[in-house]
Amino acid sequence: MAYQAALRVWRGDHGQGDLTPYTVEVNEGEVVLDVLHRLQASQANDLAIRWNCKAGKCGSCSMEINGRPRLACMTRMSTFAEDEVLTMAISHRAFSKLLKHEPSLSLALLRTLAARLRAAEKYV
Ligand code: FES
Repeated sequence: MAYQAALRVWRGDHGQGDLTPYTVEVNEGEVVLDVLHRLQASQANDLAIRWNCKAGKCGSCSMEINGRPRLACMTRMSTFAEDEVLTMAISHRAFSKLLKHEPSLSLALLRTLAARLRAAEKYV
């Protein structure tokens, strides 16, 4: 059965920002990433959400939820009480900082992604 979840999502950059409150519909069986995509599509289309595999393999969707690191694609909304306010920090800062100080990583990352895509095409 669907319900309305109260979210507080960290919005900001370079150490400045705040927790923005939202109310988003949650349907049975959904994971946090589903709800964030609904939020992005319906209320916050400037919200950046990283994800890739949606299978708990890549770690792209890692975020802090109520102070605890979790994978948004693997965390079922049923983990939380329906009336619990979920505080989410989606941080791209650490990743961007890493690439800024270690530019060679971006090339290595692209090579890894390309290899994964090539491998995936074999099974399509
Ligand atoms: S999208 Fe890959 S681990 Fe969540």
